[in-house]
Amino acid sequence: MIVKGNCIDLRPATLTDRQRVYDWCFQSETTKSHSGPPDYPEIAIASYQEFCDDYYEEYYFTGAYPEKGQGFLIMNNQEAVGFISYSTYHLKPSSAELDIWMKDETNCGKGFGNDALCTLSDYLQEELKINLLLIAPANKNIRAIKSYEKAGFQRTDKAMKTFLTEEYQLQYGYGDYGVDGTAILVKHLYN
Ligand SMILES: CC(C)(COP(=O)(O)OP(=O)(O)OC[C@H]1O[C@@H](n2cnc3c(N)ncnc32)[C@H](O)[C@@H]1OP(=O)(O)O)[C@@H](O)C(=O)NCCC(=O)NCCS
Repeated sequence: MIVKGNCIDLRPATLTDRQRVYDWCFQSETTKSHSGPPDYPEIAIASYQEFCDDYYEEYYFTGAYPEKGQGFLIMNNQEAVGFISYSTYHLKPSSAELDIWMKDETNCGKGFGNDALCTLSDYLQEELKINLLLIAPANKNIRAIKSYEKAGFQRTDKAMKTFLTEEYQLQYGYGDYGVDGTAILVKHLYN
């Protein structure tokens, strides 16, 4: 199943993609936009094992639990240019949190992120009846915030905890960059 966008398509990620998806996130030239020094010394660069155990369990790459989350390769023609995923397991009903990264700088700033976000939004609205999307980059990740705003997300003053089920409030309630360092953006979808 391919989800078609305007200039990109979303292809469900498979287990053979897991290592390169990790590399694009934590071992590439785009890593410095969200983790590690010089801008994010407090955000550790995860190992592949940590990525698999703590962030991206197998089901993101098998599609085994679409009601909990899934990952997609962002395809420009036949080339994989990045990764986007949604997760719902930690949120109140009918909401999903998105994550996205491109594999290198060459593929940033070309509108692929915007298209991928809009395409996944439509898919989640239609297929899973999701009506609230959440994305939570660092406050200082200006390029990401700009791209998300162009895709229909708006900054909110609400705390991360507002969106989480009680079980996950302690674990995720402060955002990846802390209360002051995390920008919370939401997009309402009307079913
Ligand atoms: C964040 C990301 C997914 C956005 O996707 P993208 O395809 O690059 O974004 P788009 O091209 O849709 O939009 C980017 C916007 O930011 C602007 N922009 C580009 N570089 C910028 C910069 N250095 N500072 C500020 N704005 C910038 C672009 O001009 C564009 O806006 P415009 O269309 O009005 O000109 C992508 O840049 C990326 O992977 N970055 C590195 C990893 C990352 O930060 N991931 C997010 C973690 S939460």
